[in-house]
Amino acid sequence: MQEEKVMEKIVSLAKRRGFVFPGSEIYGGLAGTFDYGPMGVLLKENVERLWFSMFRDSRDDMYGVDAAILMNPKVWEASGHVAGFSDPLVECEKCKKRFRADQLDDPKKCPECAGVLGGMRQFNMMFKTHAGAAEDDSAAVYLRPETAGGIFMNYKNVVDSIHPKLPFGIAQIGKAFRNEIAPRDFIFRLRELSQMEVEYFVPPSEWERAFEEWRSLMHLFATAIGLPEASVHELEVGDGDRAHYSKRTIDFEFDYPFGRKELWGLAYRTDFDLSAHEKGSGVSLAYLDEETKEKFIPHVIEPSLGVDRTILAILASAYREDELGGEVRTYLALAPKIAPVKAMVSPLLKNKPELVAKAREVREELKKVHPAIAWDDNGNIGKRYRRQDEIGTPFCITIDFDTLGENPDLKDTVTLRHRDSGEQERLSISEVASRIREAIS
Ligand code: GAP
Repeated sequence: MQEEKVMEKIVSLAKRRGFVFPGSEIYGGLAGTFDYGPMGVLLKENVERLWFSMFRDSRDDMYGVDAAILMNPKVWEASGHVAGFSDPLVECEKCKKRFRADQLDDPKKCPECAGVLGGMRQFNMMFKTHAGAAEDDSAAVYLRPETAGGIFMNYKNVVDSIHPKLPFGIAQIGKAFRNEIAPRDFIFRLRELSQMEVEYFVPPSEWERAFEEWRSLMHLFATAIGLPEASVHELEVGDGDRAHYSKRTIDFEFDYPFGRKELWGLAYRTDFDLSAHEKGSGVSLAYLDEETKEKFIPHVIEPSLGVDRTILAILASAYREDELGGEVRTYLALAPKIAPVKAMVSPLLKNKPELVAKAREVREELKKVHPAIAWDDNGNIGKRYRRQDEIGTPFCITIDFDTLGENPDLKDTVTLRHRDSGEQERLSISEVASRIREAIS
């Protein structure tokens, strides 16, 4: 399959099956914004839940916060974002369109009209707005460009309320906003995005050990969400290319259909942020080691994972086309753990009340294993299977007359169909429950 065609197909499936819609679509959309639909929400929640489980809840040294998006603008002055969170911008002298200079093949020629591009200037990517009724600069606030800012603002609150021992970390999932000059590639480069971030605070001497620990966990997470190992690559970011706060960064890159691009980042932020906020606020952010009585500013390791880029990587690696029963079909080979729907239950015929009643009973039984058990009695069985294939449902269960005892040997057994192979087997209801439990555990 041609790579551009794959992207087109993924975007089309995402819309057709309720994963991702263009933002404010009936008004022509808004560049860099997308909305998650019914299936997208479930997929996103499953990914986020798994991240919370692996990065926060399964550990004794991790805590959560949910910080406000709007913060005192001094946060972003101290963090260096007001001065330095910018991309190089050029404008065409003829058509007046604006471009990111570092993404152009020829930085002098307009890619739209071949006009001459003007000189480059730095464009700050933070969205600026006003808090309250005044609209002057004294009321200016920014939409946070990274969720990390809200974590740094709560470092002291967590220390004072929970009294954690170093090393410990704070995890948060939330929205971040970047006024990207050129949003592109579906949900890859957005102006409104979600991030799953950890700031892990360590004594300075422990940064390398912690860096390696989070690096391994990021690979484990990639595997857990079903990204093929061969499609995930590490890039050691060179001295001149790292963010201003980082002394070491590894970009986790993914082979998207449009090329190998950054998926996530892992950074050693040193004591840059806490020291800058201590200086900016005048409030001590030093940590007191109760045993040694030593006071110091902790250093920080930051695994930062974009939710939207993760979802796109999942859709791209799960997208499949094959031939089944003489027909071309499309399906998503999603890991059962993150699939929006775990199984679909269906009566063979919807106008046979005894079949419908039994199928409903089976569905209720399977819902004890997981709530995301769908019901579908629309159209013929083949069509029902195709719909579920396209949203990545691992199992389809059909209740027929044999389930009711027409063939006494098969009473209380059902047909279990496997998404990837299309193969079917006859199993008891409790065996089906075990299969689902096993697949999602
Ligand atoms: N707190 C560190 C930080 O924000 P970053 O490399 O700028 O670092 C972290 O962003 C992650 O956020 C990226 O690896 C990517 O997954 C995601 N991300 C960044 N900009 C994005 C955008 N415009 N659209 C979608 N995701 C983005």
